[in-house]
Formats: sequence, C-alpha cells, structure tokens
Amino acid sequence: MTATGSGGWTLAIDVGTSRTAGALWSGGRVTPLEIEGNRWMPSTVAVTEEGNLVVGQAAAAIASARPDRAERAPKRNVGSPVPMVLGEHSVSTTDAFATLMSAVAAEGRRRHDGADPSGLVLTHPVRWEETRQAVLQEAASAAGLPEPTLIPEPVAAAYHYARGELAEGQKIAVYDLGGGTFDTVVMQRTPEGFEVVGPPGGDESIGGDHFDHLVFLHLGGLIAAQDPELWQKILTGTERQWMRAAFDLLAEARQVKETLSTYPSTQIYVPVADRELLVTREELESLISEPVDRSIDELLDTVEDAEVRPEDLAAVFLVGGSSRIPMVAARLATHFGERVRTRDEPKSVVVEGAAMLSAGWSRPTSSVSARGEGAGDRSAEVGVEPILDVRDGVVAASSGTRLVVIGEQATEYSLAGPVLGLAAHRGGAAVLLAGGQIRSLAEGRRRWSSAPVPDATLGPVISADTTVVAN
Ligand SMILES: Nc1ncnc2c1ncn2[C@@H]1O[C@H](COP(=O)(O)OP(=O)(O)OP(=O)(O)O)[C@@H](O)[C@H]1O
Ligand SMILES: [Mg+2]
Repeated sequence: MTATGSGGWTLAIDVGTSRTAGALWSGGRVTPLEIEGNRWMPSTVAVTEEGNLVVGQAAAAIASARPDRAERAPKRNVGSPVPMVLGEHSVSTTDAFATLMSAVAAEGRRRHDGADPSGLVLTHPVRWEETRQAVLQEAASAAGLPEPTLIPEPVAAAYHYARGELAEGQKIAVYDLGGGTFDTVVMQRTPEGFEVVGPPGGDESIGGDHFDHLVFLHLGGLIAAQDPELWQKILTGTERQWMRAAFDLLAEARQVKETLSTYPSTQIYVPVADRELLVTREELESLISEPVDRSIDELLDTVEDAEVRPEDLAAVFLVGGSSRIPMVAARLATHFGERVRTRDEPKSVVVEGAAMLSAGWSRPTSSVSARGEGAGDRSAEVGVEPILDVRDGVVAASSGTRLVVIGEQATEYSLAGPVLGLAAHRGGAAVLLAGGQIRSLAEGRRRWSSAPVPDATLGPVISADTTVVAN
C-alpha cells in the first residue's frame, strides 16, 4: 500500500530565494515537476498593468521592463512586518508565496485530471524560526492547499541523497549554498530517518545573489575604467533607461558567474557601453574567495559544534545551485577529501527529498515495532503492521487511515493527510511525521526533550505512555 493509492498524489514545493521548484509523489515514485518547460521557475513576483499578481517567467518579463513592479526575491521579505511595494500596489509576502505555490500546484493538478493533492510538504531554510515558518503555512492555506508539513531544506536534501546508502549511526554534513542563503547541518542516520546533530549553522549574507553583486561591481569597474560617468549613470540613474541597464548588467553578471563554472573564460556585450567585456574564472575566484572561505569555516564550525571530526563523516553533500562553482568543491575537498559528494542536480535534490517525505516510501519491507528507550515500564510501542508500509524505517499510510491512540486518554484520529514517516524514536518519544488532524496530538503533550530538529519539522510527538495502533 502506498500513501497515494488509487491515483492520488502528494506535492512538495521548495520556494527558493531565486528559483522555485516542485515535485510530486504519485504511482509510487517521485517526479520533478516541469513548470514553464523547466525544472524550476524564477521566484520573481510582479504586478501587471491590470493589478494582477503574477509569478515565474511572466513576472521576470515585467521585472525587465518595469523593475519597480517586481520583486526578484520575495523570500527575503519573509518575517518583515512591512509588505512589498510593487509599483503602486502593496503585496503581502503571504500572497506572493501563495501565488508561487499555486503555480506549482496547478502543474501537478494538470497531471492528475484536476485532482487536488492529498498532502503537502514545504521546505524552509534550517534557521527559520516559527514566525517565518508560519508564513509558509498561511500561504498554503491562502492557496487552498492541504495543511503542510514543513521540513528544513538541507534535511530534505539529505533524504534524497542518503536514503539507501547510509548505515544506522553514520553521520553526514550538508553544505547548502543557494541563491540567497547558506545553510549547514550535520545529521545522523537513525533507524527511521535522520536526526540533526548539534546546532545548524549558516550565514544569510552568503549566496549566489551576493556573488552576482560582486561580479556586477567588477563589470562596473571595467566600464568605469573607460567611462566613469556612464558607470555612475548605470549605478544611480533613476530614469527607466538606466534602471534597465543596471538590471541587464546584473543579469549578465549572473550569467557570467554560471558560465564560468563550466568554461575558463566568458565574454559579454554591454549595449549601453557598446563594449565587450571578458571575465576569467580566476577573476571570479578572486572576487568570491573570501565569502567562499567563510562558508567553509562555517561548515567546519558546525561539524565541530556537533562534536564530530571531519574524518568521521560518511559524506559531505553539496546542495544549492551555487555549490556548482568548482572552487567550492575544490576547497571543501582540502578539508573533507573524498567525502565531498556532488552527485545529482543540486537544486532539485531539496524538493525531491521533500516529495519522498510527502508520502513516505512505497516499497514495503518489514514492519516497525519501536520500543522507547529510557522510558522505563511506560515505554512506547508503535505497532504499524499491517496497515502501514515500511521502507528504510519510514512508514506510509493512506489518507483516511484511522489511528487509535491509546494513552492517557483513548482517542481516535483519522488522518486527513498521510503518515509521512516515523521520524525518530528517542528517549521514549516516538515522532510521526504526519499531515492533517493527527497534528492536534502534539498540542499540550510532552515535547521531544533534546529536540535537535525543530518541532514543526517533526509534527506531532507521541508521548512515552502512548501506544499507536493503526487499524
Ligand atoms: N552552474 C552554476 N554555477 C554557479 N552558480 C550557479 C550555477 N547554476 C545556478 N547557480 C546559482 O545558484 C543560485 C540559485 O541556487 P538555488 O536555486 O539552489 O537557490 P534558491 O533555492 O533559489 O535559494 P535559497 O535556497 O538560498 O533560498 C543562483 O544564484 C544561481 O546563479
Ligand atoms: Mg534553495
């Protein structure tokens, strides 16, 4: 049995600072969603002349003609009490995210005869606190989507990368360098999945956008060397012509940076200067050397805080589009050697891992019967056979499965969403990743004591004196 039997499907969405991706679980497997013909769309939001909010390529087109009507990185506004001002409109971050999520969900529905997803997983930077996570929940609700399960981006990526190849107890690190943020985390394989070891790290000032800005200023320096006035106009001009020139030069800077991951040099044409400019990989490397080194120091600190030695890690997984920069892997290798893994497309691994968690694994293996440690004679028993399927310690159940919880008070819970997994079982607390009504179980109950993974990721906590029986 799978969580998405009889043609159902579940959805995962990763709203990134610069790109948004979706993947779905259906028919027993993960499929990346192609939106607008690509595996991701720009996270740009914009307001049309008619006052409609649009996203993706449509918004990117408006951004190039009317930069004041568009926001390239709405994720940066999450947590700000002030709405975004696009042209003469004020747009809440929640509405912006809801529109991005709707565009992804629409693509999923299109592939399922218009049927709605039965479950939803949304990803977020590992250090987002509850206030910022709540924006994702509000946006999902505004988009008419199921109540989401939230999971940190690097944790989702780890599920994708490491599900089949790590033994229990092995530890890995994730180095996640995206467009806007940099996240680091150390995780340990448990019988049921992963748990975060030590405090996650990162730096919200390091990312691809920051590198683009450095390349932009470098190109500006080349322009200024011949025509300082022109560079001043590009940099500070408020007329549309100069705002557009600055916008285009930043887009060229991003292209230069990405091209130099593959080629040793690249050339661009700058129309307002009527000049061709050459940039080499060495030049890029010297521009971004300092922030890249800082990111590696941050990872080393995270590993140290987790009380793990680099040589004890089974792997260091590279995640995020900016981890494609060859210098990143090369410098990491000086500390972590062959443990550095660059397999798979580093943007998609986040949403594909999340999609796996949106419904669990489909292939049945043995059943799970976990016994709480340290809980004395009140240890938890989690019996999941025969209703729930288990693979790699992760359980999956259909929507509508009834769980009878026998504890302080006998209660029945009917699952509005699927059980996503038995995420952890420590110190007598079994933790089910679940969507829908079973969430209410967590309220007022004992929380997971050392809780290295944020509660919102894990969903409900079943206390030690609780037995969960699927029937
Ligand atoms: N080949 C490449 N070389 C260098 N950088 C690249 C390459 N491909 C993509 N990038 C950069 O990766 C960044 C986007 O990465 P990604 O899509 O993982 O981030 P995001 O999910 O939008 O952001 P975040 O996770 O930080 O919120 C952009 O800055 C982009 O320019
Ligand atoms: Mg990302």
